[in-house]
Amino acid sequence: MSIGDLVRALPKCELHVHIEGTLEPDLMFSLAERNGMSLPFQTVDEARAAYRFTDLQSFLDIYYRGASVLQTAEDFYELMTAYLDRAAADGVRHAEIFFDPQTHTGRGIGFKLFMDGFRDAIADAGRRTGISADLIMCFLRHLSGEEALATLADAEAHLEGVVAVGLDSSETGNPPELFEEAYARARSLGLRAVAHAGEEGPPGYVWSALEVLGAERIDHGVRSLEDEVLVSRLVEERVPLTVCPLSNLALRVVDTLEDHPLPTMMERGLLVSVNSDDPAYFGGYVGDNYRRIHESLGVDEAGLVALARNSILSSFLAESRKNDLIDELARSERDQGELA
Ligand code: HPA
Ligand code: ZN
Repeated sequence: MSIGDLVRALPKCELHVHIEGTLEPDLMFSLAERNGMSLPFQTVDEARAAYRFTDLQSFLDIYYRGASVLQTAEDFYELMTAYLDRAAADGVRHAEIFFDPQTHTGRGIGFKLFMDGFRDAIADAGRRTGISADLIMCFLRHLSGEEALATLADAEAHLEGVVAVGLDSSETGNPPELFEEAYARARSLGLRAVAHAGEEGPPGYVWSALEVLGAERIDHGVRSLEDEVLVSRLVEERVPLTVCPLSNLALRVVDTLEDHPLPTMMERGLLVSVNSDDPAYFGGYVGDNYRRIHESLGVDEAGLVALARNSILSSFLAESRKNDLIDELARSERDQGELA
């Protein structure tokens, strides 16, 4: 069995993917045309050539520009459908998907419009492929805590299908503490809490995501390794870290994939999963991330199975569904053993 077949056969969850980061250039162009908008690129190849980043901010500038072509509920439906079909083909059984409401409300597009598009697409994809998905509403950390609270107030009538709040965008200089009130309010509404921390920002941001925001899962968290006390805490409390190797390579968090700390994180006993982050911009979906860590970091088959297992355990699924997926993973391991 090829490594591609093996990766596809592993039942897995994807827990760190921004829906706006799944906007492939061809869909971006067709939506721009349909909506009568211009883009800073003339061709798909020109767009791809512009996807050379020096850091997180250089990516975010292009990513927010790209998202501006999303105008109608149908646009959001097509975006979500394209992602879910690709994820299902990669063996993803369940996804917890970030969206950035302020990127859209800031352009005058209301919650109902994009939530209708997302929810219809998730329901239809579930019927078509069996995949399930929940949404994670992110606050943009380059905007203020007050704006996050106002966004949450706007969201309250539209929270069906939203399992958690998250925190994304420019990390350095925008610490978690600024969003303490918004997170407290979200948790009082019954939402779970995750936060991007320790991607470009220091380990102190991971501490405050845990202690000030009440984050139950950390997105990226690769810089946690710089703080031994933090690593011990994350291991002891089994705090999941959603790691995105091809993202870290594209945004120069690591110089080469061979330098990625994922194997060290696994050896240290951290509950790490592998995810795609913004696959249309970073050169690969979740299956590509699994394949590339096998090729470049030597993560062997047992390691890939362990990562798929971690992704299931790290999700916000009910225990009964987690157990079903763990059983399915065990069956797929057995089947592969018989084929080998
Ligand atoms: N980090 C922070 N914000 C983001 C990212 C990321 O990797 N992707 C999309 N928004
Ligand atoms: Zn992210």
